[in-house]
Amino acid sequence: MSKFTHLAFVCFLAFFSAAFAQEPTSGQTERASSSNQEKLSAQSDPPELEAYLKFRRWINAQPEGNTPRGEMLEAYRAHLADQGLTSTEIETELEALRRGGKRQEVELWNQVLTAEQPRFNTAPNSFLVRMTEGVEPGTALDVGMGQGRNAIFLAQEGWKVTGFDPAEEAVALAQELADKAGVEIATVIQGSEEFAWDADRWDLIVLSYVMVRPHIGQIKQALRSGGMVVLEAFHQDATQNQSIGRGVVYESNELLDLFSDFRIIQYEDTVATADFGRRETRVVRLCAMKP
Ligand SMILES: C[S@@+](CC[C@H](N)C(=O)[O-])C[C@H]1O[C@@H](n2cnc3c(N)ncnc32)[C@H](O)[C@@H]1O
Repeated sequence: MSKFTHLAFVCFLAFFSAAFAQEPTSGQTERASSSNQEKLSAQSDPPELEAYLKFRRWINAQPEGNTPRGEMLEAYRAHLADQGLTSTEIETELEALRRGGKRQEVELWNQVLTAEQPRFNTAPNSFLVRMTEGVEPGTALDVGMGQGRNAIFLAQEGWKVTGFDPAEEAVALAQELADKAGVEIATVIQGSEEFAWDADRWDLIVLSYVMVRPHIGQIKQALRSGGMVVLEAFHQDATQNQSIGRGVVYESNELLDLFSDFRIIQYEDTVATADFGRRETRVVRLCAMKP
């Protein structure tokens, strides 16, 4: 790409899927390699690939810095309209691009989470460790489990753990690490949109740097009475000096509102080294129990 770096493009895709789903699926933007793009080409079905390449040509032709990121979607929509596409055709095109973006996002996480030199905390989340100390183990669900650092910790503590994540290479690594650790974890390669959440099933749901808002009803329903959610994410302030998907960012006290029907065990709004990004920043943490 001549005028926009690939990183900008990937950022845009993350934004783009967010613009549709109202929630981006990542907590961090990372540089994706050209091999990722090749994988995407191989894995996308034709309309997605076509939409992706067409969009790439368009963004490549934009004057540098001319279109603020937040206005790109509308600018592209207008461009498609100028080309004579009907509103139905535009929506079909954008939907195909969104699907391609989703695959790109998965590739990104595969790459980040299986990197030989990880740039995230590979130890279990410290808040999860604290909040589960002394809790009788039961069934646990690790949402967007990544490479399994939290699932494996819980299994070691005697929990019967299931984790799911659409990033298949990260999930494969989780299974490999669980084997090495001599524990069993059940894994599912799915996103939150497809996962069968069920009702009254889990004693613990782990929400570590993953999107929650679109699935809040399913999460609450899936917990057993007396079951807990343990969540860690970024505070809005953390976005001042780094690009973070809105899905893992909360305003002050927003989590308290989201879980106002639960018993709040612990809420923290503090400056700490975030597990993702690995810099001192403002993070929010919630442990809450279903009545
Ligand atoms: C910041 S990582 C957190 C990983 C893990 N929870 C942890 O704390 O180590 C975000 C994770 O969300 C996953 N993810 C992306 N899209 C998702 C979706 N639609 N549903 C569930 N998880 C998703 C990514 O693959 C990635 O593993």
